[in-house]
Amino acid sequence: MVRSTRHTDIGDTQVPAPQDWTSLQPGDIVEVIEPGGYSYEARIESKTEQSDILWIRSHGFGTRHLLHNQDGTRLQAGTTPDQPQNRNPPALPGTGSSLPGPAGLSRPQAITPTIWRKHMNTSANSTFNRTPLIAGNWKMNMDHVQGSSLLQHLAEALYEAKHDYARVEVAVFPPFTTLSAVQTLIQDDGLGLVSGGQDLSPFDSGAYTGDVSGQFLARLGCKYVLVGHSERRTIHGETDATVNAKVKATFRHTLTPVLCVGEGLDIRKAGTHIQHTLSQLRAGVDGLTSDQAAGLVVAYEPVWAIGTGEVAGPEDAQEMCGAIRAELAGLFDADVASKTRLLYGGSVKASNAPAMLQAADVDGVLVGGASLDAGEFANIVGFERQMAG
Ligand code: 13P
Repeated sequence: MVRSTRHTDIGDTQVPAPQDWTSLQPGDIVEVIEPGGYSYEARIESKTEQSDILWIRSHGFGTRHLLHNQDGTRLQAGTTPDQPQNRNPPALPGTGSSLPGPAGLSRPQAITPTIWRKHMNTSANSTFNRTPLIAGNWKMNMDHVQGSSLLQHLAEALYEAKHDYARVEVAVFPPFTTLSAVQTLIQDDGLGLVSGGQDLSPFDSGAYTGDVSGQFLARLGCKYVLVGHSERRTIHGETDATVNAKVKATFRHTLTPVLCVGEGLDIRKAGTHIQHTLSQLRAGVDGLTSDQAAGLVVAYEPVWAIGTGEVAGPEDAQEMCGAIRAELAGLFDADVASKTRLLYGGSVKASNAPAMLQAADVDGVLVGGASLDAGEFANIVGFERQMAG
């Protein structure tokens, strides 16, 4: 997988050191919080007690190293590309050697010496900060007969697993023509899952042949609507402006948008995936109120990982979801950002979902292919069992 190196401002500002930073050991995972709240996980590669050096390797960003004074305040920090030759501790201060970092150095605000698992929103033993959402996007599969059968099998599997829908929300996104059958089953059988549309018109009614109004989806009992899925953006040429109009239409009809963002392979290779995705995010949420933004769901779906079997790592999902949450905090406020649910999507299966859902800012998954298999999707919904095991 192509990874990029993040270079930000040079800074020699002293930063608050973690209170018990001396207890950190190689192999520990720490959370490094950047100005603005942007955070990422890093693993301590090695530590030199004598000079109080922590050599920290960041997941997904290349190699990051931090030097501390005896009192724990930071001396200097740098980021170098994730090359094997850079995986050695930096030269000690006073030896005449300089840090092997590029000109752009980051300025962490804080380093929290807490193991990553303890940070995660989704945990086997604790309550969730945000209700996890496991969403199945059926795409253009499942006519109303096939869809009814799939939903019945899924409901049965979840019933047998004693699934608690209030704890982990489950949503399916069938094609428009299957929605009515799904809704009938949900209502008549009193199923705990909810449904959503895969798209909607930016307009409410009128001469828009082939389009479907948010009003129609709301009348069918839909709770959610996917907006700006990469397949709509690429195949149907949906622009950021269209996506924003659709997000607003969703709210007009008291539906909740699942705003999809994410970069293609070329952008990932160029290392500009964060800027690209945050730009889609900013355009998508333009003009929303704080209440709307807090209720929004954002799905990060790297296009190169959709339907390819190429799954992004949990660190990639966390990198982007952390950046999205920090961006929302800047656009709205930290309280809003702490409520917005962020999903990862792209080749999610029962085998990789638990790792994804351990990331602190990943509140759920948007599943394509694997949601067409009732057993597999039910196992994704039951991700906590795998975490516990
Ligand atoms: P896959 O899970 O098939 O990669 O699809 C992801 C997706 O596009 C969900 O919206």
